[in-house]
Amino acid sequence: MIDAKDLTRTFGNVTAVDRVTFHVEAGEVFGFLGPNGAGKTTTVRMLCCLISKTSGEARIADYVVGNEEDSLKIRKMIGLVPDNVGLYDELSAYENLDFYGKLYECSESQRRENIQRFL
Ligand SMILES: Nc1ncnc2c1ncn2[C@@H]1O[C@H](COP(=O)(O)OP(=O)(O)O)[C@@H](O)[C@H]1O
Ligand SMILES: [Mg+2]
Repeated sequence: MIDAKDLTRTFGNVTAVDRVTFHVEAGEVFGFLGPNGAGKTTTVRMLCCLISKTSGEARIADYVVGNEEDSLKIRKMIGLVPDNVGLYDELSAYENLDFYGKLYECSESQRRENIQRFL
């Protein structure tokens, strides 16, 4: 389901992720642990196609990380809950959920139903 092979990301002369290789099966709960600065967030950001990789390969299901068309499909199928949640302070709780629902192309009636349930 998730396959990373020699995944690497550098920022200038900092190597944030250095040839990370792992495999996660569908349905498996996978703990990806390490001290602060180990490169966990950078790895997740590459897998979610939020930043590019420097080298190595990764696949999510049959999609290839780094392929532009596949990146859109990968972003659609992943739900990421980062440690600092990206909510907009100037929007209400309802408006925040409505905004994210729109990004996921939920219909208006589906958004209304989901938001009532989640709130
Ligand atoms: N956008 C960036 N620009 C420069 N350095 C970065 C950037 N993002 C992360 N780093 C560096 O990459 C390393 C790994 O960071 P990170 O992936 O956030 O680690 P973790 O999530 O495991 O704490 C750290 O040394 C961090 O300072
Ligand atoms: Mg982190």
